[in-house]
Amino acid sequence: MRDFLDTLIIEFDKGLKSSFINKNVSNRVYPANDLKENKLSELERNHSSSLMRVNHAGEVCAQALYLGQSLTAKDISIKAQMLKAADEEEDHLAWCSKRLEELEDNQSVFNPVWYTLSFSIGMLTGLAGDKWSLGFVEETEKQVVSHLDSHLHKISKKDLKSKAIIEQMKQDESGHADQAKESGSRELPEELKLGMSRVAKVMTSTSYYF
Ligand SMILES: [Fe+2]
Ligand SMILES: [Fe+2]
Repeated sequence: MRDFLDTLIIEFDKGLKSSFINKNVSNRVYPANDLKENKLSELERNHSSSLMRVNHAGEVCAQALYLGQSLTAKDISIKAQMLKAADEEEDHLAWCSKRLEELEDNQSVFNPVWYTLSFSIGMLTGLAGDKWSLGFVEETEKQVVSHLDSHLHKISKKDLKSKAIIEQMKQDESGHADQAKESGSRELPEELKLGMSRVAKVMTSTSYYF
């Protein structure tokens, strides 16, 4: 129990700090590295940066969910899978953070709140059992993919950098959903899926502005 509490405090603290600090160093190459920064109108630029702030907040949540789920996972291989996915979400977090800096805008002031809520939801989901926890991952990632897809249509065609980041994240999130399915996810009830998308809507609408 003591080990569990120590790990809980360490992981929570680690993630919470990264949701405060503008961390923009990733393990993988920044997808927008070699792309031209086209001139955007003020309106286009504001829209891009607001959507990237939403994506950054989403990655704060993703990282917290996976870390929370890893703590209460029963099977050691599922725990490892959750931790590996959390690492990849850290790359996404860093890319979104870097893009926000390039667009000269800030991350969501509510990130610590999103982190705390998501970490708690992740832990509770893990307690429900590995198959449900994987089902939660699969559904979350599917919702994230469709949300990222909508951003690709909303962002100006001239903003090649933001689009490249979103494209790569979409590919990774789809991979996370497939992996959860292959590992034996259980499909969540429709009411729960709907509830998840409503909660996500609160986060995305708030983060767009703040
Ligand atoms: Fe992600
Ligand atoms: Fe993901």
